Amino acid sequence: MAVSRKKPKTTVRAFGVDLMMASHPEVRRLKRENPDFSTHGNKVWRSSMLLMDYLKKDSPRQRSKGMEIGCGWGPASIFMAKQFRCKMTAVDLDPAVFPFLQAQAAINGVTVDTLKSRFEKISGPQLSQYDYLIGSDICFWDEMVDPLFKLIKRAKNAGVKAVYIADPGRTSFLELAERCEKAFGVEYEYHEIKRPVRATGFILKV
Ligand SMILES: C[S@@+](CC[C@H](N)C(=O)[O-])C[C@H]1O[C@@H](n2cnc3c(N)ncnc32)[C@H](O)[C@@H]1O
Repeated sequence: MAVSRKKPKTTVRAFGVDLMMASHPEVRRLKRENPDFSTHGNKVWRSSMLLMDYLKKDSPRQRSKGMEIGCGWGPASIFMAKQFRCKMTAVDLDPAVFPFLQAQAAINGVTVDTLKSRFEKISGPQLSQYDYLIGSDICFWDEMVDPLFKLIKRAKNAGVKAVYIADPGRTSFLELAERCEKAFGVEYEYHEIKRPVRATGFILKV
């Protein structure tokens, strides 16, 4: 009797982007080489897919320039580069995430620049080079609220057209969203997706 030997799935397709799962051979190899990467940049987080779904409808301009903060493995940057041909710079304090990001960019046939920096250190003149600032699941501790609020303020003063931040709804994010609501008169909205994974949360657009 013939035995079916279906290859196990090692990527998941989300909004036109192939995302590597932990079982992907390249992920396993990179993890063996970089055993000590830190602040939660160790997988693709679901909020990035909430952001992708939102940006499908509220699309950035084709070929515009974007910066992603707290990029981790960079799913949102790769989405922007693939779907809207955006020139993306992906920023993270932990440089150990970049090989994973580059491997994901390569399987999607796009390029993404990377920059090791903390939110706090990104200056107005740096931000003025970008049309969009994006982030997903980056406000997970109370100490992050103030630096992110100040970063958004610098971005708006520098002429960035729009800032989009997705989050599962952590209290620290909701505090950030309320500060932005008061300061910039914007609203944040509930968002959910059912595919390719179920995810619920909020999108803050400033
Ligand atoms: C929960 S992960 C989210 C990763 C990615 N945005 C996603 O949705 O898959 C948070 C990321 O933010 C980065 N991070 C945390 N604090 C940061 C800071 N102050 N400046 C820059 N990056 C930071 C971490 O290293 C990590 O990669």
